[in-house]
Amino acid sequence: DGDSSASGGSAGGGDDKIVMGFSQVGAESGWRTANTKSVQESAKEAGIDLKFSDAQQKQENQIKAIRSYIQQKVDVIAFSPVVESGWDTVLKEAQNAKIPVILTDRAVDSKDTSLYKTFLGSDFVEEGKKAGQWLVDEYKDSKDTVNIVELQGTTGSAPANDRKAGFSEIISADPKFKVIASQSGDFTRAKGKEVMEAFLKSNPKIDVLYAHNDDMGLGAIEAIEGAGKVPGKDIKIITVDAVHDGMQALADGKINYIVECSPLLGPQLMDLAKKVVKGEQVPPRVVTEETTFTQEQAKEALPNRKY
Ligand code: AHR
Repeated sequence: DGDSSASGGSAGGGDDKIVMGFSQVGAESGWRTANTKSVQESAKEAGIDLKFSDAQQKQENQIKAIRSYIQQKVDVIAFSPVVESGWDTVLKEAQNAKIPVILTDRAVDSKDTSLYKTFLGSDFVEEGKKAGQWLVDEYKDSKDTVNIVELQGTTGSAPANDRKAGFSEIISADPKFKVIASQSGDFTRAKGKEVMEAFLKSNPKIDVLYAHNDDMGLGAIEAIEGAGKVPGKDIKIITVDAVHDGMQALADGKINYIVECSPLLGPQLMDLAKKVVKGEQVPPRVVTEETTFTQEQAKEALPNRKY
């Protein structure tokens, strides 16, 4: 059922090894796979006993996993919330059990910020703004309408909400930019392809695709090629993540620009967990450092990319 423990240490009792319960979103994208690997490897290196469970993109599974970690009396719970809302009850249960919670990668919209110790991850609004800024620069000399289609991430998730908002804020300064269709592709390649096929059928003139992650962009590339168009030329493509396959498509000229979102959160997560368990003060927000890639920069970066 996707649950596993990195070592046999007993939860919360006996030895002094820290036990962490980690509830992962799923395995929806290359980003997620790299993130899971980073968390598992870093736990091992830090000597933390990791109990890992994969929620298959379902909030109910995450809530179940968190409740089970509370029952097992783990020392710390970390999770990447699939959607932003609906966490107050279970977070309150963890708080009542005196188990500290760390949010990684994605935020919750709980008003009561005492329900978690810290939130480690990217600034998704900023990522959306960077994507929008590239577009503004790319079309600065043109007065024609730019028809944009958008592949959103998982409905209700922080990265989908924020990447949409950041992008929209930047491009709405110029009315020539028109988002003519916007729909969720659930951060997966298969859904990205399917939704792009539908976009292509109902919109004869698409200039730009903005996909909230590489995987949906890669699926969309298949749809674009299937419709006899050239990705990167007939339709310009901006994505977010910069995982290996995305970077390869960027270097090959099929994607035009990628905004980086780093999945390598493991080492920082383990540091924060150790501090939180000791009762030390940690900053309430830890933002990941990230960059952007053009096609030329992707060619340079690819040989040394770790994921
Ligand atoms: O929360 C981070 C997002 O989740 C990544 O950008 C996407 O690829 C993943 O599925």
